[in-house]
Amino acid sequence: MEENNRNSEVVLSVEHMDKNFGSTRALRDVSLSIRAGEVRGLIGENGSGKSTVTSIVAGMQNADKGTMTYQGREWKPKSMIDALEHGIGMIVQESGTVPGISVAENIFLADVDKFKKGIVMNRKAMIREAQEILDEIGAEDIRAEMMTAALDIQSRKLIEIARVMRKKPKILIVDETTTALSQKGRDIIYNIMKKMSSEGRSAFFISHDMEEIMNECDALTVLRDGQIIRTFDKEEFDEDLIKKSMIGRELQGDYYRSDYDGSFGDEVVLEAQHITVHSSEPLKDFSIQLHKGEILGIGGLSQCGMHTLGKVLFGALRPQSGRALVHGQPVKDEADAMSHNVGYVSKDRDTESLVLQAPIQDNISVGGIDKFAKGGFMILPTAEKKYVNEQVKSLEVKCQNPAQYVSALSGGNKQKVVFGKWIGRGSDILILDCPTRGIDIGVKQTMYQLMTRMKKEGKSIIIISEEMAELIGMSDRIAIMKDGQLSTVMKREDKPQEADIIKYMI
Ligand SMILES: Nc1ncnc2c1ncn2[C@@H]1O[C@H](COP(=O)(O)OP(=O)(O)O)[C@@H](O)[C@H]1O
Ligand SMILES: [Mg+2]
Repeated sequence: MEENNRNSEVVLSVEHMDKNFGSTRALRDVSLSIRAGEVRGLIGENGSGKSTVTSIVAGMQNADKGTMTYQGREWKPKSMIDALEHGIGMIVQESGTVPGISVAENIFLADVDKFKKGIVMNRKAMIREAQEILDEIGAEDIRAEMMTAALDIQSRKLIEIARVMRKKPKILIVDETTTALSQKGRDIIYNIMKKMSSEGRSAFFISHDMEEIMNECDALTVLRDGQIIRTFDKEEFDEDLIKKSMIGRELQGDYYRSDYDGSFGDEVVLEAQHITVHSSEPLKDFSIQLHKGEILGIGGLSQCGMHTLGKVLFGALRPQSGRALVHGQPVKDEADAMSHNVGYVSKDRDTESLVLQAPIQDNISVGGIDKFAKGGFMILPTAEKKYVNEQVKSLEVKCQNPAQYVSALSGGNKQKVVFGKWIGRGSDILILDCPTRGIDIGVKQTMYQLMTRMKKEGKSIIIISEEMAELIGMSDRIAIMKDGQLSTVMKREDKPQEADIIKYMI
């Protein structure tokens, strides 16, 4: 058992837990406990075991070895529903709402029967109760009678939170939920955890956001390669020390680029000409040019148009007027963009960038997905196999072997495969839409180093990002967008500061 200087009683403890997936040792002799009223942060690189340990606590899967004790008794949940009935609820990383039914039905799901009398359903009572829960967690903007399909990701996440909070859990587990949320959504989660804590209830909070996790947690446990490295009490929080224990070494080399030389070639390789798109994230007569050897950062508030721009430039979205040009030629569609060696890493990497139900090697392999997308697997020639192995190694993809399915990888490792895929295709131009979102610092650094290397090789990159530090750290120029238009362009040589950038966003 670990030390914890608070005096309240331990509600849950995990002792000597092991969990293996094939040859992957996801958890190794993990012991961990949480006290009543404690908000415990879990942090560690992608694939370090955070989701595995918490999902075992929440009844999603079983451990291979070890015991758990909850409220003084042995804890062996049979399922997530069973765990929630006994007071342990988890909000998982992947979305879990049913689109075709109402918000209220999603909140009650398996329990809707409680509103049935014989064959008559008391919809009014169900909606009223659902609304009460939404109001209570601070999501009163969501109306319980609405259809879930009409709502955005953030609202759907809040519905999942309402579903769990309805059961008044003694322990709430929040697994990397905040990455998908705006500040308002994040505040809802912080408030829930604060309230629970004041009532002597507890929470496990998993996040890659250092600032948020240090602000919201009473203690922070660092995992690395399936092992607990150290638990920091609040007084001991020290960003550098925490990062160091996460990666087991000092970050070697530069994190972002270290130079202030924002020079690039004269040749325009990709261009947006007077592009107008009518959509929920519109563009209004937008123009910009990407040059050979340039890293062009694009930033702005949500709905500023930056994600739409990425899609238009890759030919994935047809503008109402204006056009995208690659090497001076109009981009007809995605296939056309790819034939000009343009690569695109989507914000929504799972659904758009990878074939999850296929091996890593097929995703990375030269030529990539097209060859096998229609079913059947590829037989890789030796040279190609060697190439794939090299990519997996140089990107440090954590996997059993390249034949493993992408679906089994953690977020950061999936993202490495996405990069590997586009590099494998020999992309000269990369459009990256929030490539490091929800990814830990170790993987981020790999990506930044890769981008720097590509620039040096004369390749061109657009990085669309919500993180100002990343834009400042990596870009030769930063274009700030506002309401579908260009607000300003800043140069690397001028060393722009976050405060200057924000002024142009709002
Ligand atoms: N269902 C699974 N099948 C195979 N490997 C898995 C599965 N779930 C997790 N893993 C592996 O176990 C390790 C720990 O994963 P996970 O707990 O998801 O990490 P984290 O949440 O810290 O990013 C990783 O190497 C991951 O690839
Ligand atoms: Mg995880």
